[in-house]
Amino acid sequence: MKQAPDRRRFLKVATCALGGGIGATVAAPAVSYLLHPVGRRTVTASSEPIDAIAADAIGAEPVRVPLRARMLRDAWSATSDVPLGAAWLRRDERGVHALSAVCPHLGCAVGFDRRAGEFRCPCHDSAFAVSGERRSGPSERGLDPLPLTIEDGRIMITWIRFRSGGSSREPA
Ligand code: FES
Repeated sequence: MKQAPDRRRFLKVATCALGGGIGATVAAPAVSYLLHPVGRRTVTASSEPIDAIAADAIGAEPVRVPLRARMLRDAWSATSDVPLGAAWLRRDERGVHALSAVCPHLGCAVGFDRRAGEFRCPCHDSAFAVSGERRSGPSERGLDPLPLTIEDGRIMITWIRFRSGGSSREPA
């Protein structure tokens, strides 16, 4: 028995539509999975200020304070209480100052030499004044300052990792 042309056309269109719908339903999650995390921010650095220490604990002599992020996220995971680095804090007549403890030369941890009254890097012997200014050694710039605020008697520091090397200061 011969089918009417209209009925044949309808069945053809309905079959294509049904097949396309099923294909799209299966393909959408697969494509989304394969493209994840294209177009998303893959690493969320700790841009929120970190509660570092009580402001009245800081005097004229630099104090090293470790900085930890409460939460770090990337495209696949979230990790809590992540060590980021450290800051050297000190107070002078203008207020409290924070310097990154990361050497601007190649990234070693800078220590404070109390006898010499200056910061020193053990890796290649760069030296920095207590203000962070470069004194000697291969580092081309002084220690990197970190933004801070004081809220309810607590020092809140925003951690920034700067690029190693060079005389200009750029976030990494
Ligand atoms: S890493 Fe500090 S002087 Fe080289």
